[in-house]
Amino acid sequence: MNKLLKLSIVVLLGAAVIAWYDPSLLTGNTNPFVKYHHVFAKLTFLNPVLEFFGIHHGKRPSSSSSTQKTADTPPEPVTESSKAANEPTRVFTKEELAKYKGEEEGGKIYIAILGKVFDVTRGKDYYGPGGGYAFFSGIDGSRAFVTGTFTAEGLIDDIEGLEKSDYVGLRDWADFYMKDYTYIGKVEGKFYDINGNPTKYYYQAQKWIKAASKYKEEEDIFKEKFPMCNVDYKPEEGTRVWCSNASGGVKRDWVGFPRSLYSAEGSKNVRCACAQESDLDDPLLKPYPNCPLDAVTCQIVPPK
Ligand code: HEM
Repeated sequence: MNKLLKLSIVVLLGAAVIAWYDPSLLTGNTNPFVKYHHVFAKLTFLNPVLEFFGIHHGKRPSSSSSTQKTADTPPEPVTESSKAANEPTRVFTKEELAKYKGEEEGGKIYIAILGKVFDVTRGKDYYGPGGGYAFFSGIDGSRAFVTGTFTAEGLIDDIEGLEKSDYVGLRDWADFYMKDYTYIGKVEGKFYDINGNPTKYYYQAQKWIKAASKYKEEEDIFKEKFPMCNVDYKPEEGTRVWCSNASGGVKRDWVGFPRSLYSAEGSKNVRCACAQESDLDDPLLKPYPNCPLDAVTCQIVPPK
């Protein structure tokens, strides 16, 4: 499907959602996508639709292959992909950076994430005046990349206290800019001082990102080991769970047996997982009552 068609479909879907959310948002002089972008950003249930059309969503899908440098190694790049890039030496003050919103300085547009400044002029349809993401221009609005709070309070470089998944999201956004745009310098702020040297906060942020990436990696491995079951509910048949060689979105050469999987021993947090024979004695797994141990399908709630 070509990009314009994809974008049109997404915009139409978005308009339908806005109309459903609050029809008054579609009226008025301001571009509703710009003014009410936070409405989209919070509608995370749209993410699968966006993914289907090959368009990213707010929290970019993270690649488990991405790796980070440790906080103790040379500090500059956020990720391996950025390691190869030539390190630019230019340091912007906040005031200087604020000039690069596409209206001054020859129409140049710069944005910063995690203190690194990127030239995004070729994405002026997004970041330029009137663009859907113009609020990111001329500042380091790192936090908003993962919170979706596109207000002055939200568009800040303080990334303390975020969820682990948010740190992974930030890492992925930083990687995205490193790959798709030109890294041109640093901005004085939380991450770098006026000489472009990393601050204490920079090293702390690296630790947050590194810990979150490790957690995500382990979580991904766990999901591969114990993929989700398929679930089927029909009032006349009740609820049935079953395993297939693609359940939970994990394509594999085994099917597995449905089991209750507890997040920790003694925890009440449970989901259905497909387990291979070799893992069936894992203490986090419990068989479903009234379901043969070697069954691929289990009736877990009887019909009404
Ligand atoms: C935290 C929430 C979000 C953030 C931070 C965000 C950020 C961005 C950014 C920075 C771009 C430009 C990317 C580039 O330079 O190529 C972009 C593009 C786009 N975003 Fe979002 N976005 C968010 C949520 C959403 C949601 C919820 C939707 C839709 C309902 C959406 C739809 C789009 C579309 C259609 C594009 C253009 C994609 C293309 O043509 O390749 N975004 N977004």
